[in-house]
Amino acid sequence: MLRTLILLSSVAILSTWAVKCKYDNQDLDNNQIIVVQNAFRIKCLTEDNGSWKTEIVGCVAPDGTEIDAGQKKEVGDKVHECVKTEGGQVSLKESKGRLAACPGGQKNGEEWQEKSFKFRCGDGGVVKFIACVGQDGSVINSGETGKIGGFDVKCLQHANGTITMQAANDPKSYECKAKDGSMKKNGEEYIEGNFVRKCADYGQGKIIGCYAESVGNTIGVNQNVTSGDVIYSCKQDGSSYSFKTYNLKAN
Ligand SMILES: *[C@@H]1O[C@H](CO)[C@@H](O)[C@H](O)[C@H]1NC(C)=O
Ligand SMILES: *[C@@H]1O[C@H](CO)[C@@H](O)[C@H](O)[C@H]1NC(C)=O
Ligand SMILES: *[C@@H]1O[C@H](CO)[C@@H](O)[C@H](O)[C@H]1NC(C)=O
Repeated sequence: MLRTLILLSSVAILSTWAVKCKYDNQDLDNNQIIVVQNAFRIKCLTEDNGSWKTEIVGCVAPDGTEIDAGQKKEVGDKVHECVKTEGGQVSLKESKGRLAACPGGQKNGEEWQEKSFKFRCGDGGVVKFIACVGQDGSVINSGETGKIGGFDVKCLQHANGTITMQAANDPKSYECKAKDGSMKKNGEEYIEGNFVRKCADYGQGKIIGCYAESVGNTIGVNQNVTSGDVIYSCKQDGSSYSFKTYNLKAN
C-alpha cells in the first residue's frame, strides 16, 4: 500500500503582525502541525518578514502512530515507512513486519507438518521449508540425507520450489540379506526354508514360490505339484504365504 502527497512549499507575504500559514482554507500558527488525508503531517513555518511555508514533516500510520519523514516503524505485524524524495514527495509505504503471520494463518516461528514435510513461519510471513518426515517419524533436514527405515533418503527443495524426498541411491543397488546371513544381489533368486525369494528393489527379498527338495523346481505361488504320493501346495493368502504337503495314500 502506498500513499503519496506532493507539497510544493507555498509562500505568501502578509502584512499582519502575526504571520500565519494557509492550508486548505485553514490558518495555521508558526510551528503548528496538522494531519492531512489521515496520513501526512504538515508543519507551518513563518518568518518575521511576513513570508511563510508549509512542509511535510512526516507520516501517520493508520493506527495513529507518527513517523518522521525518512523513518520507518513496526506497528503490530506491519512496517510503515515514511519515504521522502529529493523532489519533496512524501509517501507512506506499508509492508509486512517481521512478526507477520503466514498465509496459512500460522504465527511467526510456528512449525507445522503437511503430509511428510515440515515448515516454519519465517520473518515477514514467509513460509520456510525445514525438513522431511518419514512414516516412522524420523526427520531429515532440508538439503540433507538421512535414514528412513534403513534406507538413505535425500530431502531436497529445488530452485523451483518443488520438494522431494527420494532414495539417495539407486533402488537396485541394495542387496538382500538371506536368513543364513548371505547377501544377494538385485534380481538374484535364493531359497530360504520352503520358500523361494527374489531380491527386489531396496533389498526386499520377495517370495516368488515354494521349494521342496523332492520337487527340485520352484513351485509357483498358488500352484500344486504332485510328486510321487505327495501334493506340494504353495499358497498366498493376502500378504502371507504357506507351504503344505498332502499325502495321497490313504492312512
Ligand atoms: C524573508 O526571510 C526569509 C528567511 O530569512 C527569506 O528566505 C525570504 O526570502 C524573506 N522574504 C522576503 C520577502 O524578504
Ligand atoms: C522442479 O525442479 C525439479 C528438479 O530440477 C524437477 O524434477 C521438477 O520437475 C521441477 N518441477 C516443476 C513443477 O517445474
Ligand atoms: C491344491 O491341493 C489342495 C489339497 O488337495 C487343494 O485343497 C487345493 O485346492 C489345491 N489348490 C490348487 C491351486 O489346485
